[in-house]
Amino acid sequence: MRTIVKGASLVSPDDRLSQQDFTRLADIIQNHCGIRMPPAKRTMVEGRLRKRARALNLPSVHEYCRHIFDDGALDEELVNLIDAITTNKTDFFREEQHFRFLSSSGIQALTQLPHRPGRDRPMKVWSAACSTGAEPYTLAMVFLEWARLQRDFRFEIFATDICTDVLARAKRAVYPEEMARAVSPDLAARYLRRSRNRDDPTIRLVPEVRRSVHFGHLNLMDPSYPMATDMDVIFCRNILIYFDKPTQLSVLKKLCDHLSCGGYLFVGHSETISGLDLPVSAVAPSIFART
Ligand SMILES: C[S@@+](CC[C@H](N)C(=O)[O-])C[C@H]1O[C@@H](n2cnc3c(N)ncnc32)[C@H](O)[C@@H]1O
Repeated sequence: MRTIVKGASLVSPDDRLSQQDFTRLADIIQNHCGIRMPPAKRTMVEGRLRKRARALNLPSVHEYCRHIFDDGALDEELVNLIDAITTNKTDFFREEQHFRFLSSSGIQALTQLPHRPGRDRPMKVWSAACSTGAEPYTLAMVFLEWARLQRDFRFEIFATDICTDVLARAKRAVYPEEMARAVSPDLAARYLRRSRNRDDPTIRLVPEVRRSVHFGHLNLMDPSYPMATDMDVIFCRNILIYFDKPTQLSVLKKLCDHLSCGGYLFVGHSETISGLDLPVSAVAPSIFART
């Protein structure tokens, strides 16, 4: 069989993703989870499907596509397909200004709203594309710090994602040490535990942090979200960038329906929502308040 040399590896033509299969997959992915798949992503998709094909003991990407398109396995394979395709990069204190805003003024301002979140009822926080959990656990550390100083302060953190694999890892709460590089020594001493095995440098969150976060599966493309409609803080970061404008608008409108008046919406630093007709006003770069 003819082979193509790619880098150091030999790839058979059967292990390539044809244009036709890529187009079909791109449509399915965009319809199901909103993620745009421009032609430049073909090599990335091919690489990830190659791994998935191996996991199913299928000899090639071509056979994998035959399996899902011709053998009718698409429905049962969809979860794994989405798990394989989604980009899950995340870190503790990623885009650190957002957390600094909450600690320095945001939480305080929220507690002074007429419905007194954090005092008359728990402050409600939602990380809406939480990946492996670094974002909601960072929020948990920030809110636990606040609660250390304000004894009667209460909060709840909800964290959701479409990808089942990242949710399982989030619940395990064990991470490579380098993901927690931005955690200050103070917070690390209180909330992180290092593994004793120097060959496997990982950190683990203490139970107090783990208990603060409730994880669940949620697809932002769903027509409505089974979440409370009086959230005080919503993080939807580094996912909008993968959606087209109409999808961004539809997702953001639904998220705004879940924010209480005065509550904050955080998007990623490289995500712009200006020009979209939404009931929010800007309070700081990539931070908005529900009007
Ligand atoms: C790049 S990560 C961002 C994680 C985190 N918000 C951060 O900024 O560090 C994007 C996450 O969005 C999730 N995702 C992709 N499509 C989604 C959808 N339709 N609904 C919910 N989550 C989705 C992916 O599984 C992935 O975990």
